Amino acid sequence: MNPGTSMLIAHLSDLHLFAHRPETAHTRPDIALRVCQIVADLTELRPLPDLVLISGDVTDGGSEDDYALARSILEKLPMPFLLVPGNHDRRDTMRAAFSDRLDFAPGEHLNFRVSAAGGIIIGLDTTIPGKVEGALCQARLEWLAKALTGVDSPTFVMMHHPPFSTGHKQWDRTNLTAGGAELAALIEQAPGQVRLLCGHVHQPIHTIWHGAYAAIAGSPAFEYALDIGGSAEPHLVASTYTYWLHHLRPDTTFSVHPRQVNLERPG
Ligand SMILES: [Fe+2]
Repeated sequence: MNPGTSMLIAHLSDLHLFAHRPETAHTRPDIALRVCQIVADLTELRPLPDLVLISGDVTDGGSEDDYALARSILEKLPMPFLLVPGNHDRRDTMRAAFSDRLDFAPGEHLNFRVSAAGGIIIGLDTTIPGKVEGALCQARLEWLAKALTGVDSPTFVMMHHPPFSTGHKQWDRTNLTAGGAELAALIEQAPGQVRLLCGHVHQPIHTIWHGAYAAIAGSPAFEYALDIGGSAEPHLVASTYTYWLHHLRPDTTFSVHPRQVNLERPG
């Protein structure tokens, strides 16, 4: 962050956009219109966020048409946006759709490291093709170790699968299932600088994990009912959509604001 300036980052997740037919039975049939409402909300905010980060499940099925739709909507944002894949995305079609505006690292995984808005944004691909759960293999951990080397400014590590427990057995079962201990060790080497931004759980949650602030953003596509400490399959609920606004100030203080958008219910 430049001296004397603050940083405002919007964190969204799990848009589950689809062009023709949804892959997920739960997603809103009019999700494209709902995401347009969110884009309009972000556009009207003052001050405008410097950057929008989307932590995976950008699309519901990962087809070329799904990404063309996602791109056509997200390009209406007046600020840059960055995204990582979730378990509903597909690496090949996602890379093809966004590689001209996002400098993905070479190789099979959709990782990236960019300097933006006075901070560092690291995108970390936690997906396993064909699986709901996520993992970090040795190759991704080694890439992350290099990406985190010498970080001395606010750093957001964006990854779809949360590495921390939500306290709910069903959610935790399909979160990050491998590489969490190694990730924690890397984060502990950059104390106070790293913030984790996740998705996948379809419910806004935040916590502290190994000294780092960590957040899960809600989903505008479908959201699970609050079930603190539960173990049963969570049921869906109609709730006001919430995304996070991270406000980092030059004196190193920060606050995280829930921004609620009253999305119209499908008719
Ligand atoms: Fe999702």
